[in-house]
Amino acid sequence: MERSIRDTNVCVIGGAGFIGSHLVNYLVNERNCRVLVLDNLITGQKRFVHPKAEFVWFDITGSEEQLRKLLEFHEIEYIFNYAAEPYIPVSFERPLHVFNINAFAALKVMNAAHEKKGGVKGILQVSSAEIYGNTDGKISEEAKVEPHSTYGASKAAIDSIVQVGWKERKTPAIAMRQFNCVGERETHPYIIPEIIEQIGRYEEQGSQEKPFVVKLGNNSFRDFQYAGDAARMAVELLEKGNFGEVYNMGSEEGVQMYDLAQMIGKLMGVAVEVKEDPERVRPWEIWHLQSDNTKLYKTISGRPEVPLEEALARTIHSYKENGNKWDF
Ligand SMILES: NC(=O)c1ccc[n+]([C@@H]2O[C@H](COP(=O)([O-])OP(=O)(O)OC[C@H]3O[C@@H](n4cnc5c(N)ncnc54)[C@H](O)[C@@H]3O)[C@@H](O)[C@H]2O)c1
Repeated sequence: MERSIRDTNVCVIGGAGFIGSHLVNYLVNERNCRVLVLDNLITGQKRFVHPKAEFVWFDITGSEEQLRKLLEFHEIEYIFNYAAEPYIPVSFERPLHVFNINAFAALKVMNAAHEKKGGVKGILQVSSAEIYGNTDGKISEEAKVEPHSTYGASKAAIDSIVQVGWKERKTPAIAMRQFNCVGERETHPYIIPEIIEQIGRYEEQGSQEKPFVVKLGNNSFRDFQYAGDAARMAVELLEKGNFGEVYNMGSEEGVQMYDLAQMIGKLMGVAVEVKEDPERVRPWEIWHLQSDNTKLYKTISGRPEVPLEEALARTIHSYKENGNKWDF
């Protein structure tokens, strides 16, 4: 059944973060929504929140009762939960912390929405491609769920909760298995900011040494989608997707990390040579993550519009505009 999010009251949890801020901009500018952003600003920033959205500091690991009251007070109809501890290596050191935010607190969000007077019309819970194991090519939703980190396990848990939550008591949620995103306001530490920063430091030093050596970990393959495209397509997914189901969200295209560094070098005008830094190599890396969007494309008409090169150029531009810093 189709739903329309236009002109509705929407809550974006994690809306001060990277992808969440693209989503809030889209909901305000293109869908005329009244948007409530809940965020604890652990990685996100208040200045990323669209001025027409209402911002309330809130930590989803806290009181479920308070969250339910906020949803009731703002007469929320739709919820997008983008809040998470998204940096995978944190889960090697602090698995409980990661699971608590990504799975347990996300279940609290679903529960608060369920308990809200009148309920909500739909919830989009962000899952991740990191729930899958290694494959050679594109991965569909039928592939085995085989996380390689507690981050992946936490996303697999909430992804399953979305599926059983609909079966058990009709909590109207969809799980979206997001592949990697790229774009303005990308929070650090991630691979793209890391490469841009390494090359940026070289540019600042005015070094003439050529080619410049970029030090990276695994030369794995990742599917990169422009964050603005991912946000726009996520809204359409919540309007047209089936509750209790899971959907991949990616670009279906991608690149190996060492080639990505070459692309970024070219865009920044620096000749680059990539060398492996053993300290950065992740022990249980998934070597190839590439979305098969067949199910998504049967459901929504939206498609990625911004190619990787343009998305990278926009990311580099936002880094330079910010005084060659990632304080986001
Ligand atoms: N960036 C990617 O490439 C990518 C890929 C796959 C999945 N995801 C998922 O997409 C979502 C958004 O990721 P992102 O890259 O924009 O990360 P981000 O860190 O920029 O955004 C997360 C936001 O959630 C907020 N937050 C964190 N913990 C919170 C809590 N306990 N209560 C309230 N707010 C909290 C942060 O302050 C931040 O604003 C996450 O669920 C992430 O796991 C991201």
